[in-house]
Amino acid sequence: TKKAPLVVANWKLNGGTDLICTSVASIRNQNFNVQVGIAPPYVYISELVTFLRNSPIMVGSQNVSKFESGAFTGETSAQMLKEVGCQFCLIGHSERRQVFLENSESCRTKVERALAAGVMPIICIGENAQQYEMGLTRDILYRQLHHTLEGLSLNGQSLAVAYEPVWAIGTGRAASVEVVGEVHQFIFDELVVMLGEDANSVQILYGGSVKKDNAAELLAIDHVDGLLVGGASLDPEHFVQICRVAG
Ligand code: G3H
Repeated sequence: TKKAPLVVANWKLNGGTDLICTSVASIRNQNFNVQVGIAPPYVYISELVTFLRNSPIMVGSQNVSKFESGAFTGETSAQMLKEVGCQFCLIGHSERRQVFLENSESCRTKVERALAAGVMPIICIGENAQQYEMGLTRDILYRQLHHTLEGLSLNGQSLAVAYEPVWAIGTGRAASVEVVGEVHQFIFDELVVMLGEDANSVQILYGGSVKKDNAAELLAIDHVDGLLVGGASLDPEHFVQICRVAG
C-alpha cells in the first residue's frame, strides 16, 4: 500500500534565514493531505528542524557524502544528517551529476550510507535534452536505476525515486502527461524487477517545472506518488498551494 503523496521542496543554492522564516510561517499550521518535505542548504537544516519541531513536515538535505568520516574536507555524512534531524536526503540530482560529476556508482554508495543511517534516500534520475531527442530515455534511466539499486535490500526502510527530465528542470516546460505516465510505469516495472515486493513501497516522484497549475494533473497519473519542486518552492505561498492542490 502506498503512503500519502510526497511533495518535496528543493531550495538548491537559494534561500536563507528569511526564506526559512516566511516558509515556516506559511506552512507550519496547515493541514495537508500530503507528506511535505523541505530540503534547504545544509547550514540551514538545524534551524529549520527547530522551527518545525512537532510539525509533520520533514526536513532533508540536498546531498550526502559517500564517506562515513575522516579526512574529506567539505563533506557531510549521513550520520550527521540523521543527528541534526534530517529525515531524507536527495541523491544524484542532475545538477550534482552534471556540475559535480557524480555518477551512479557514487550514488549507490550514498544510498547505502543513507539507509544505514536511517535517512530516506530520494534518488534522482533523468535524461537530458539530447538523450530525450534521440529516444534514449529508457536506456539512460535503466542504467541509472540499475547501477544505483540493483541487489539492494530495503528491510522495511523507505526509499523514493524522483524522475526529473533535465530538459524540464527550470524551463517552465514540464514533461507532458503522456511522457510522465510512460516513464513512471517504466520506472515502476524496473523497480519490481530489482526489488520485488519492496517496489510497492517506493514512492516515485516527478520533478521539472512543477507549479500549482500542473500539480494536480501530474499527481493524477499512475505511479506518480509525489512531486519534487524547485523554483516554485522558493515562493512559500506558491509551495503551499502546490501542497494543497496535491492533497
Ligand atoms: O529538484 C527540483 C528540480 O530540479 C526541479 O526544479 O521545479 O525549478 O524545475 P524546477
